Amino acid sequence: MFGYILTAAMLLPFSNASPYTSTTTAMSNAFHVTGCDVSGLTPNLPSGQTQLTVPTGTKPVFVALGVGVQNYTCGSTGTYASAGAVAEFFDLSCFVSQRGESQLQTIIFNLWNGDKSLTVDQLIKAFGTSKIVLGQHYFVTNPVTGTGISPEFDFRTGAKKGDPNGFVIAAKSGDIVSPDGPTNVDWLELTNVKGDLAKQVFRIDTNGGVAPSSCTPGSPLISVKYAAQYWLYN
Ligand SMILES: *[C@@H]1O[C@H](CO)[C@@H](O)[C@H](O)[C@H]1NC(C)=O
Repeated sequence: MFGYILTAAMLLPFSNASPYTSTTTAMSNAFHVTGCDVSGLTPNLPSGQTQLTVPTGTKPVFVALGVGVQNYTCGSTGTYASAGAVAEFFDLSCFVSQRGESQLQTIIFNLWNGDKSLTVDQLIKAFGTSKIVLGQHYFVTNPVTGTGISPEFDFRTGAKKGDPNGFVIAAKSGDIVSPDGPTNVDWLELTNVKGDLAKQVFRIDTNGGVAPSSCTPGSPLISVKYAAQYWLYN
């Protein structure tokens, strides 16, 4: 069932095949699910905000769908604090380049959040192609100060296999609340601290991932499911 819905969702962007080519040719040409050129694309950022700014002299190199969890620890005052995240990154380049946008993060989030038994491995298998996995997002010790944690985007087992610098560790440089409402984590701009994968990373079109407003001090770490679009610039 999940695989069926996902396949249908993935085929949506490719339904405008030319009527002048045979079905077979149209299908083989249209079936670029991964690896489309994103260098000429621009993300849909809310107008009027000044926090998330695309740097001059850089272009998008990857557009990804991130699916995973945001972790939180409960502080002594009974509120949650961010404790990092883990997410699998899928290639959204062809969805975004053929439609100018993608709603896939919302479709996938609803499936991901709605089925408590669904694992990330099942999600990857449902996509049916290993190339659609660009890499992983997780947190590491801040490489500059040696304390605290920093977000890392690591494509060394995916799109940058064989490149020892195919990762980026970043620091937050811009932050706006989600224009889609308070149940979604903020939209962010992150700037390179280490690695060659990207100079800037934008997290936009977020779905979910927000911690409950209060907690009982001493309660364990929680993981809240989320999905978002990530744009990597270099
Ligand atoms: C976040 O939680 C997940 C389990 O949901 C765990 O696998 C991961 O290691 C945690 N990451 C951090 C940084 O706490």
